[in-house]
Amino acid sequence: MKEHDLTRRRFIAAASASSLAAVASTALPAYAGVSRRAGKLAILGGDPIRKNKEWPSWPYIDDKIVEAVVKTTKSGIWCRIQSSSGTVPTFEKEFAAMMGSRFCVATGSGTQALHTCVEALGIGAGDEVITTPYTDPGTIEAILAARALPVLADLDPASYQLDPDDVEKRITENTRALMPVHMMGQPCHMERIMAIARKHKLAVIEDACQAHLAEYQGKKLGTIAPLGCFSFQTSKTIACGEGGGIIGDDEELMDKCYTVHNHGTSRRGLTETIGPKYRMNEFEAAVLLAQLSGARERFLRRNENAAYLTSKLKGCPGVIPQKLYEGTSSGSFYLYPMSYKKEAFNGMDRGRFLKAVAAEGVSLSPYIARGLHREPWVDNIVKTKAYQKAFSPARLRQFRDEMKCPNCDLVCEEMVMIWASGPLLGTRDDMDDVADAILKVYENRDKLSSI
Ligand SMILES: Cc1ncc(COP(=O)(O)O)c(C=O)c1O
Repeated sequence: MKEHDLTRRRFIAAASASSLAAVASTALPAYAGVSRRAGKLAILGGDPIRKNKEWPSWPYIDDKIVEAVVKTTKSGIWCRIQSSSGTVPTFEKEFAAMMGSRFCVATGSGTQALHTCVEALGIGAGDEVITTPYTDPGTIEAILAARALPVLADLDPASYQLDPDDVEKRITENTRALMPVHMMGQPCHMERIMAIARKHKLAVIEDACQAHLAEYQGKKLGTIAPLGCFSFQTSKTIACGEGGGIIGDDEELMDKCYTVHNHGTSRRGLTETIGPKYRMNEFEAAVLLAQLSGARERFLRRNENAAYLTSKLKGCPGVIPQKLYEGTSSGSFYLYPMSYKKEAFNGMDRGRFLKAVAAEGVSLSPYIARGLHREPWVDNIVKTKAYQKAFSPARLRQFRDEMKCPNCDLVCEEMVMIWASGPLLGTRDDMDDVADAILKVYENRDKLSSI
């Protein structure tokens, strides 16, 4: 699966434990029900919390999806331009309605959706777009593909989202847009981001690629700014292998998005502008359409399970679930993330904690190994003719020198998370297993110096 491959590639080996001797909190935990956690740790030869149980699998597959693909195959309508009532235009209508948006343009990926928006807004060489270093490479590649400059602002380390204060500091005379990313499927501080955009007259493109159906201040993520983008890559909570979508209410702007994504050719049949060919195909839309009716029920289940899990972990100082901003009423729970605080685990490094939890039968993992501010593109693009022509030497030097995001570095180091699309569809018992595995390791942290 692409997302897992990417993440595996970017994982870091956990740091050595020897450098830390912070003292854990000695206060009695505020949570109850210790019996399952009383035994010897599985990594030391004890009985694991969870054994011989499967998680709900992902991607979601049922007969309806299989039949839809067969039907599309037999129909011979494989490409959206063959029929105005094919699966792609139908999916666009249904997805827009589900999101409470007037329009949707379906694309071949989330990256394509984001790049289409950048082009449709006329952003290009010499322009800058501010976004986060803690995201999938697709976010910044959508900006680079237009030869604009992705400027990365640091994070709020507790929410893993863009820090609005740092965003505002990084605005220059070239800045044209903000691209907030709703990381882990939870909302950014959109109230502040939108206020900053209004103040500086900047466009906003919401990267809601991980955030299907999540809500903030009564609005679905992706509908707060004029343009919102989604990914339907396999690991996402609505998925078709590779796929994407743009939603919006502004007819003219959405029409431009259609034109850009359709190799620059408008609905009127004229080739009008620059545009790659980013159309979703009919098979992808068939898979998506067939799962939309159950998507909300699965979303609600993930939210219920996440709330339960969070309540079980409450009071444990060693794992702190993601901070949510006021106005957050739900998340997609594509991932269930937590910050691992090694000082509360007698200084035990994250790698040993993950091994001990895995031995209890529960798999947690790091996420992004290093922020995008630490990847080679930063040095490489400033050497290209395209960027040297579009930006002054002083601006490119400053761009490189200011590419520092210490809070993002901390988040990469501390992150432990569950790939949640499937697992958070489990039962209460499954959630008890997750919480008990973590809490058992926490309560026995003083016995782990030997592993
Ligand atoms: C936050 C974010 N933005 C953009 C993308 C790119 O989406 P895609 O992989 O569909 O191109 C992803 C995909 O994982 C993502 O998580």
